[in-house]
Amino acid sequence: MSELSVKHLLGIKYLNKKDIELIFETADHFKEVINRSIKKVPTLRDTTIANIFFENSTRTKLSFELAEKRLSADVINFSASQSSVKKGETLIDTVNNILSMKVDMVIMRHPNPGAGIFLSKHVNASIINAGDGAHEHPTQALLDSYSIREKLGDVQGKNIVIVGDVLHSRVALSNIFALKLQGAKVKVCGPKTLIPKHIESLGVEVETNLIKALEWCDVANMLRVQNERMDISYFPSTREYTQQFGINRKLLDSLNKEIVIMHPGPINRGVEITSDVADSDQSIILEQVENGVAIRMAVIYLLASKIK
Ligand code: CP
Repeated sequence: MSELSVKHLLGIKYLNKKDIELIFETADHFKEVINRSIKKVPTLRDTTIANIFFENSTRTKLSFELAEKRLSADVINFSASQSSVKKGETLIDTVNNILSMKVDMVIMRHPNPGAGIFLSKHVNASIINAGDGAHEHPTQALLDSYSIREKLGDVQGKNIVIVGDVLHSRVALSNIFALKLQGAKVKVCGPKTLIPKHIESLGVEVETNLIKALEWCDVANMLRVQNERMDISYFPSTREYTQQFGINRKLLDSLNKEIVIMHPGPINRGVEITSDVADSDQSIILEQVENGVAIRMAVIYLLASKIK
């Protein structure tokens, strides 16, 4: 039987192409399961999973919880704001206390880059990174690539542009690793101040003209401007950002082809994307969310099979 090359999912950086193919094949099966009238399989009846979130989340948290329940795992949810972390308990103590209740796997979102890597070295459980600061968001990148594959047949050879606040984005970095592994061509587009220095060393090109980027691409993945991670102004005003790097219907209609529009959410409507684009047939934003459940079922299932 095929298995993943890793014991944890800490970042796409640690996966190989075969891992991604295995996750997608497994997700194909689970996507069929969750479209049945009975959306559940008994596979992980003997597995207990803790979702520990030190940062806000809607999609990722609910998607993981639903994936765990569809696999029949026992699930506990931990929210840092209502926990003894507020009394000064460390991350390792917190997680070791949770694990002593016979928990097998930890899904963690944390504001600090590398938090999942740190945890995996200090506790005895399988760790899935659900987003660590501006570092990686591996399941988001997997569901993004899976959605491109579903829409366009393959990721290999496709031209993908990632637009916006690349500097503060864990989605961008994980997407770059995932797309390059699968043979896509990747450009990033945004204000120079929001493009990391030396990003070309990851095998991507920088394009600061949005129209040129859109004319080149098959898929545009629009990123949110992450004001919560900014301690200075990176562009003169939101209005000017939107004029230069936001997409709207008029701009898309001016292209000589129809491109696929993606967004990891949450959307800033009217900033990086207008409602008439986000809610149009060109957008696969809700398909991305739907695919997130099947992808997370696949990742949990494949990692759980390594700890049995
Ligand atoms: N895409 C994403 O990570 O969304 P949430 O922050 O709502 O989980």
